[in-house]
Amino acid sequence: MTVYGSFPGARPRRLRTSPAMRRMVAETRLHPADLILPAFVREGVTEPVAISAMPGVVQHSLDTLRKAAVEAVTAGVSGIMLFGVPEDGKKDALGTAGTDPEGILQVAVRAVRDEVGDDLVIMSDLCLDEYTDHGHCGVLDAAGRVDNDATLERYAEMAQVQADAGVHVVGTSGMMDGQVGVVRDALDTIGKEDVAVLAYAVKYSSAFYGPFREAVGSSLKGDRKTYQQDPANSRESMRELALDLEEGADMVMVKPAGPYLDVLAKVAAEVDVPVAAYQISGEYSMIEAAAEKGWIDRDKAILESLTGIKRAGAGMILTYWATEVARAL
Ligand code: PBG
Repeated sequence: MTVYGSFPGARPRRLRTSPAMRRMVAETRLHPADLILPAFVREGVTEPVAISAMPGVVQHSLDTLRKAAVEAVTAGVSGIMLFGVPEDGKKDALGTAGTDPEGILQVAVRAVRDEVGDDLVIMSDLCLDEYTDHGHCGVLDAAGRVDNDATLERYAEMAQVQADAGVHVVGTSGMMDGQVGVVRDALDTIGKEDVAVLAYAVKYSSAFYGPFREAVGSSLKGDRKTYQQDPANSRESMRELALDLEEGADMVMVKPAGPYLDVLAKVAAEVDVPVAAYQISGEYSMIEAAAEKGWIDRDKAILESLTGIKRAGAGMILTYWATEVARAL
């Protein structure tokens, strides 16, 4: 036998030789309890409505939302994040439907709480864009700019009606300065000290929210660049994070997940509160669309994308595949 040079002494491939070996040395394991299901509920429908840009995701009726919540519990999913889609004609400049105790989100929270009680952590999106006719996350000033402090007053009221409806956690996703502190105060003022704040501490202005706009019937013209973060930056994420923690955030989130894994890893290394990441609509739809075309293996791509998010440091992952993946694990 001719020997060409020397053979390697170290052979990492040894630990990849069999499924059992790979399983034993795996550093990252997804668990159903890592997962949180975002769900849309639409006012005034008795049947779920398909979202064409998100095949497999629907705008639920109250009935099918209850069923989805039960399925999530059965699969071992930890939580559900609810988004309300008001009836046509119910959007206005102030997003009034968002603070109406009979608004769709509040009705949905009560329905889910009634159905699953405390078996699922019930979370609500605390933001105005689902309810404003202009589609922005806040109210506008005379010049048409999103008015930070006037919006905070709306968020305070929103937090209170959502807490009254029975959420366990509010998700402050509007990216207004000071929102976590104002929401914390508003909750404490009405004796809702136990309602936790999941701060979307790090939220980028992302093209990957595209399909979400159809999901909530948003009519946004323009963009959210004056309040959501610039994808080019990661230092300001650390500032947003520090402010939210100072203001009383119980948990923090990075969003989107996939294109921001470096930021997620930095956040996870920095804080001592639970860290969540949101695999958003565009991340979902890209995989579904490529799989539909037969270009990638759907199930493997889903698991790989979620494993990457967990490996980067997320203890909780919001994903539209939550129930399906939890069942498969
Ligand atoms: C704000 C909100 C958005 C998403 C969750 N909460 C939209 C936005 O900030 O532009 C996006 C979620 C997704 O794309 O899956 N209400």
